[in-house]
Amino acid sequence: MGSATHTSDAATVPPIVLGIESSCDETAVALVRGDRVIIAQAIASQDAEHAPYGGVVPEIAARAHTERLAPMIAAVMGQAGLTLDDVDAIAATAGPGLIGGVMVGLVSAKALAMAADKPLLAINHLEGHALSPRLADSALAFPYLLLLVSGGHCQILAVDGVGQYRRLATTIDDALGEAFDKTAKLLRLGYPGGPAVERLALQGNPKAVPLPRPLKGSAEPHFSFAGLKSAVLRAVDSAAHSPADIAASFQAAAVECLIDRLDHALKRAGPFPALVVAGGVAANQTVRAALEGFANRHAMQFTAPPLALCTDNAAMIAWAGCERLAAEGWTADGDFTGDPLDLVARPRWPLDASAEAVRGAGAKG
Ligand code: KG4
Ligand code: ZN
Repeated sequence: MGSATHTSDAATVPPIVLGIESSCDETAVALVRGDRVIIAQAIASQDAEHAPYGGVVPEIAARAHTERLAPMIAAVMGQAGLTLDDVDAIAATAGPGLIGGVMVGLVSAKALAMAADKPLLAINHLEGHALSPRLADSALAFPYLLLLVSGGHCQILAVDGVGQYRRLATTIDDALGEAFDKTAKLLRLGYPGGPAVERLALQGNPKAVPLPRPLKGSAEPHFSFAGLKSAVLRAVDSAAHSPADIAASFQAAAVECLIDRLDHALKRAGPFPALVVAGGVAANQTVRAALEGFANRHAMQFTAPPLALCTDNAAMIAWAGCERLAAEGWTADGDFTGDPLDLVARPRWPLDASAEAVRGAGAKG
């Protein structure tokens, strides 16, 4: 102990972080090593529980997280053949999100941290999404322009480094994933709606239904999707178009808004060497193709994490923990203490604390 050899070895040993995610309707646990190895992970979706309601019911979500989390942690540790002694820190989503679910994950992480005497890392769920592309792509360096599009968020961020985020745009009403889910509900496609709209859109004509492009060309930087959703409702009610044409036209309108707002952000804050997309809507192939085209036109590298890392998962939370350890100079024999155990879960937690509050933005996790 304490020999020069031990110290240099310790400095190069990558940390192992246990990650817990429970901020919406996925219960997830992962073990990730600092050299970008996902050692083991598990995800339990609650789609079946929420499907009858056409959206996530917070009480049902919290109860499902409570029932599933402890056995999932045991299963992931068992799968990896590790014990808590082998883990260097315990990371959990501490917000933003549905508060009941966030509390379930955070309390579990605190209990494990206390029992095993390991540091706690309270991770912002959005930071998990923002840094997840670097877990998949070791070549992705800071800074990059990030489009974060999920069920609860629709933001453009400049990611300058770990903990350094500038919000360039957000939504003034609905998030894009929410707009996909609402469109699916209007078209009676079930929940979750994004993948169903995407599938149906493949059979439709994206030019068939005239739909608005809210805030396109506007001098203000933000997104808005509420008007698009209302127009979809009118199109459905009119019965003048096929569901496939409505789905395709909705998707085309949404994508046009994304590109327009990205263009606006790039003009104001660019240039950036890379464009990165994260969040559940990044699973959409039409969205990805349009973003790739935009990146090519602006000579930017384009990165989208693999689909499993785009939607909510715990590997991104554990990885954000690894990034934090690296940024804060963690070493295996150092005295890193992590976050205080009395830290509270936050339903709202902007990544960029200096960004002005925007009406409607971040209303959900
Ligand atoms: O990131 P995520 O798993 O959870 C949140 O933090 O919100 O994102 C879920 C959202 C849902 O609104 C879902 O409909 C949308 O991502 N989504 C999609 C697709 N797959 C998931 N939207 C459009 N096309 C898809 N293929
Ligand atoms: Zn998410």
